[in-house]
Amino acid sequence: MSKSGPSSTDASRTHATTSRGGFSSSLGVLAATLGSAVGLGNIWKFPSLTGANGGAGFLLIYLLSTLFIGLPLMVAEIAIGRQARANPISALRQLQPRGAPWWLIGVAGMAAAFLIMAFYSEVVAWVFAYVAKALSGNLLSSDPVQTQASFDALVRDPVQALLWQWVVLAFIGGILLLGVTRGIEAATKRLMPLLFLLLVLLGGYSLTLPGAGQALSFLFAPEWHKITPAVVLTAMGLAFFKLSIGMGTMMTYGSYFTAEQNIPATATRVMLADLSVSLLAGMAIFPAVFSFGFQPSAGPSLVFITIPAVFAQMPGGSVLLAAFFLLTAIAATGAMLSLMEVPVVILHERWGLSRPRATLLTLLILGLLGAGCALSQSTLATFQPGGRTLFDWADYLSSNLLLPAGGIAIALFVGWAWGERAFAAQLSNHGQLGNQGLARVVSLLLRWVTPVLILLVMLAGLGVFSGA
Ligand code: PHE
Repeated sequence: MSKSGPSSTDASRTHATTSRGGFSSSLGVLAATLGSAVGLGNIWKFPSLTGANGGAGFLLIYLLSTLFIGLPLMVAEIAIGRQARANPISALRQLQPRGAPWWLIGVAGMAAAFLIMAFYSEVVAWVFAYVAKALSGNLLSSDPVQTQASFDALVRDPVQALLWQWVVLAFIGGILLLGVTRGIEAATKRLMPLLFLLLVLLGGYSLTLPGAGQALSFLFAPEWHKITPAVVLTAMGLAFFKLSIGMGTMMTYGSYFTAEQNIPATATRVMLADLSVSLLAGMAIFPAVFSFGFQPSAGPSLVFITIPAVFAQMPGGSVLLAAFFLLTAIAATGAMLSLMEVPVVILHERWGLSRPRATLLTLLILGLLGAGCALSQSTLATFQPGGRTLFDWADYLSSNLLLPAGGIAIALFVGWAWGERAFAAQLSNHGQLGNQGLARVVSLLLRWVTPVLILLVMLAGLGVFSGA
């Protein structure tokens, strides 16, 4: 089976062939997969959710979900993709028992991808806008009222919100139109280390601030009473979101994996690196929160109001600030590309559209869907069916409902329908690696434990047991 090569020009293929594109090397696989995992989830979602949900207890549940639910599912998705070498719908059709409807997981995944991108692209829009504003030097201030006001001025202006979103969509679409996993692979390989370095620097500096002690105990000393079923569901949803699982992204990337790649080892490395980036972001942000009198529960604006305040204290602050948001934009770009790849490759391989047309159609749909989220802080701010804005609904439904439900379905598929032998063959590279024992354990987990656990957390979190 081919491990690389130019992208297929045969639009009508629905099955794996040697002419599909793929990642070119082990490092490329790692960079692209990590590029998908690391994104706004680390720098924007992780700190704001940890802050809003009481800190350490949330972090602990998040860690447990990542290890015992996220990691096995990530391995499962990659294995499915690499076995089938096709988009998620075709992959499941190919591997499912005759006549079974498992391919619907791919359809749901595509819907989830659109829903996530609808709000994600708007947060990337804020990041892009912040790069521009930081360069013009008018963002820095250690006064919380001031930094909050700058953020509000941006998100409450419908014209800016929409324009920046379109800039982002055009940018991401442009990269995909160039046909580039190459460009992105190359870019992420160079720039991810830079993001890491900047976060270490920022975290180190932040820890010298007077609020550091309070921040550390907030992050690492759990207050058990704050852990409610809803908090557990949010933490589990974050684990899904962070690892890009439950909606076909990892299946799609798995289909580009080289035949030699050790799937469990790669997944573990990606998970650990992703986790470190999140923790570093937390260390950079929370000391500032407590030192400058922000609220840890500030929500989506947290990063945008605290980080400028920290940089305001440092020499060369505006340059560092621009660099920080630029790298965040790059991290988000890697994640966004992997999200967009799901509908694009489905439209390309199943509907027979050329890749450019599939990309344009995806962008068009996204322009429409995304507008609802972009305007959620301005024109549509009072439109809150069920107590949430469209932005919040897209965020809530994807992480707390669609991704976990997708996770249940994928676990059941691998545990019951696909068969342990095929799964073990993927994990051990057909017997070349000693992963058979591991495959057995993961397979048992996926069969009996993962789906039940996810279902229980979902039901409890949605208030089914409390009758709420
Ligand atoms: N993991 C990405 C992030 O943390 C988001 C993402 C979710 C990407 C689902 C792909 C699929 O930002």
